[in-house]
Amino acid sequence: MRRRTAKHHASLRRLPRIRKPLAVTVHFIGAGPGDPELITVRGRRLIEGCPVVLYAGSLVPREVIACAPEGARVRDTAPMTLDEILDEMRAAHAAGKDVARVHSGDPSLYGAVGEQMRRLDALGIPYEVTPGVPAYAAAAAALERELTLPGVSQTVILTRTSTRSSPMPEGEALEALARSGATLAIHLSIRSVGAVCGSLAPAYGADCPAAVVHRASWPDQRIVTGTLGDLAAKVRPLRLRRTALILVGRVLSPERFDESALYDARHHHLLRPRKKKQRQTD
Ligand SMILES: C[S@@+](CC[C@H](N)C(=O)[O-])C[C@H]1O[C@@H](n2cnc3c(N)ncnc32)[C@H](O)[C@@H]1O
Repeated sequence: MRRRTAKHHASLRRLPRIRKPLAVTVHFIGAGPGDPELITVRGRRLIEGCPVVLYAGSLVPREVIACAPEGARVRDTAPMTLDEILDEMRAAHAAGKDVARVHSGDPSLYGAVGEQMRRLDALGIPYEVTPGVPAYAAAAAALERELTLPGVSQTVILTRTSTRSSPMPEGEALEALARSGATLAIHLSIRSVGAVCGSLAPAYGADCPAAVVHRASWPDQRIVTGTLGDLAAKVRPLRLRRTALILVGRVLSPERFDESALYDARHHHLLRPRKKKQRQTD
């Protein structure tokens, strides 16, 4: 039993074998929302094993990468340019060193990983992605809410609003998304919380529940709940500038919602088939 456990741990320590067994250089790793306990086991193990660690220090706390091996080259990429980040990756690849590229939340959302991957593809440097807990999931956990409720909303839209550097594509304005009535998780928009609520109120109603979760999962996490009509006024005095999500939707304070059919005793399915009537034996 003991030997088997040791072997098992050794196999876990090996690099993931899914796509590029031996040649991975850059590991894009989702750090999770901030709490160092919310990184995945694989993500942490990869950081522990990489001699080069590049982390997005504007959102990833140092505690998350504190497990980097002694002597590792650890760099905060917040003040770096894309060229400088790629220079680090290229140098590591040339030296035969693996890189842990650590992004906040899940790398697939607003992480600017697409442009890094495109450059790596062009350079022939292999990479792999380890997902992470996204901020919207941590915010829902902080609020203790399910974002999809039967009969209320079965869709979550992850979105943001325009900034000068990142305009929204046509058709993705909040007013257009609001027509769906879906639950919204709005990123990178806390500075314009008033405009966000104003854009959504005509479709959702000023009484629609809305919340701001600031630094979800961090020790100084803050939650403000209200409605589209009053959220901005509640949030403004806190002068929040970043690392906050705006969540909107009736799921946040559902007056009534249907219980799902999945656990309904009258509903049978593959994993809970209808019991055969017991034959009367006496
Ligand atoms: C550049 S995006 C990164 C998103 C990240 N990749 C994810 O999966 O959640 C940064 C935005 O995500 C949201 N965010 C990230 N971490 C957060 C946290 N711990 N609490 C609340 N919002 C967070 C904020 O809206 C912030 O402006």
